Amino acid sequence: MDKKELVNEAIKASEFAHVPYSNFHVGAAMLLKDGRIFTGANMESSSYGLTICAERNCIFGAYARGVKKGDIIAFAVVADTSTPVSPCGACRQIIAEYLNKDVPIYLANFKGEIVEYKIEELIPYYFDGSELK
Ligand code: THU
Repeated sequence: MDKKELVNEAIKASEFAHVPYSNFHVGAAMLLKDGRIFTGANMESSSYGLTICAERNCIFGAYARGVKKGDIIAFAVVADTSTPVSPCGACRQIIAEYLNKDVPIYLANFKGEIVEYKIEELIPYYFDGSELK
């Protein structure tokens, strides 16, 4: 599967976003080395702070079904933005902790523009928990 196909899976997932407050649909898709794909979309609450982004729904949902860090070989995020979507800081932190460093992160928009990053470019010097006792 190429990056465009993975982005298309994320676009399909964005249709399931529950966004009555922002109407801002975000989709995420994860490719596993066995070819499986897990997706996620943003879910909003009337108590705004309870909203969960598409990226974290995708990652947590996959882990909750037994996916392990080493299984993940690509990750895509998409929204209807003028330039490829920029993930929030919280999601960058979670991507850094739950995906291997070399996994390509594809950021895209509905127009088909795709840029590729590694997570350490998106969140350098992130908190990695290694000091936790
Ligand atoms: N959102 C995401 O799903 N991912 C991000 O990285 C940034 C923001 C969602 C949260 C909320 O539902 C909407 O976009 C507007 O902030």
